[in-house]
Amino acid sequence: MTKTLTFLGIESSCDDTAAAIVRAGPAGTSILASVVAGQTALHAAFGGVVPEIAARAHAEKLDLCVEEAMDRAGVRFADLDGIAVTAGPGLIGGVMAGVMCAKGIAAGAGLPLVGVNHLAGHALTPRLTDDLAFPYLMLLVSGGHCQFLIAHGPEDFTRLGGTIDDAPGEAFDKTAKLLGLPQPGGPAVEAEAALGDAARFAFPRPLLDRAGCDMSFSGLKTALLRARDAAIADHGGLPRATRSDLCAGFQAAVRDVLAEKSRRALTEYLALAPAHPVFAVAGGVAANQAIRTALETVAARAGARFIAPPLALCTDNAAMIAWAGIERFRLGQSDGMDLSARPRWPLDQSAPALLGSGKKGAKA
Ligand code: KG4
Ligand code: ZN
Repeated sequence: MTKTLTFLGIESSCDDTAAAIVRAGPAGTSILASVVAGQTALHAAFGGVVPEIAARAHAEKLDLCVEEAMDRAGVRFADLDGIAVTAGPGLIGGVMAGVMCAKGIAAGAGLPLVGVNHLAGHALTPRLTDDLAFPYLMLLVSGGHCQFLIAHGPEDFTRLGGTIDDAPGEAFDKTAKLLGLPQPGGPAVEAEAALGDAARFAFPRPLLDRAGCDMSFSGLKTALLRARDAAIADHGGLPRATRSDLCAGFQAAVRDVLAEKSRRALTEYLALAPAHPVFAVAGGVAANQAIRTALETVAARAGARFIAPPLALCTDNAAMIAWAGIERFRLGQSDGMDLSARPRWPLDQSAPALLGSGKKGAKA
């Protein structure tokens, strides 16, 4: 019988400082508390996450987040079975702040320390929320990530492909900026797209002519910039209807690329003949209704169940880190005080290294 484990999770790899308590055992898995302190306001003036500002803010907020998570969960250090912490990939100053905080608690309370790959945290979330069996196909699609993974086990992932430049969320954010819409750009562009005609601007569908599951989104942004400037030159400004049409055209292009590459990823995954095929998505971009509907359709056509964990667990949080720590610990693994913070840490060591590094840091 599996022993009940209660873990504290700590996350600080980008612009969210987070702590959570997760308990897993024969009676099921529950998130006793999940605290996320975002830093959006601190970076707003800079058009991206400033690593130094992020690291300092994490160092200031980590203890408070841990304290709040433990208070809310009603647990003391003596009730914990281990500490899980994001040890990479991410902005190195923030990851170091989290790792040092976790080491301090682990040493002080005499608890096991488990270093977690941030991407594994995202990729294992459907097991936390839906108790999924391996293998399943996962699409991580956010402001910092974009990759297809087959999850075979808690530490065993095959990367089928991913973006070679921007992540789609980043492209949505840049599009919003180019069109004078607020940040984060995704929701603003989606709302505007709902009013527009997706057929008016023929934006490219990058890399669809290339086999495999790699994607590219930076050229789309350039195409949008050109179309915007041409419209401004024609009209002496950007008419509202044109802005909506640009948003609709851009969103349709991202949707089509993600749908077609998902179809290909599903074909590769289904070749493994999984007993219960599942296509799971995580990340802020999965909140986009047009994209989500397209992905659901692709999954249904392939005969796979579609799963999207609740948004609060799809975006950066520490419950996924606590859970991934529990998964590793159950495999008999933990780390010593020599655990180090890693800026790059691909989940699939055999996949070719990724190019590019966006506003949210390395996408390893
Ligand atoms: O998962 P998330 O919080 O990860 C990162 O921290 O990267 O995702 C945030 C990203 C932002 O780039 C945001 O613009 C995008 O997800 N996003 C959306 C939508 N809601 C959020 N993109 C498209 N449509 C949306 N409705
Ligand atoms: Zn993330």
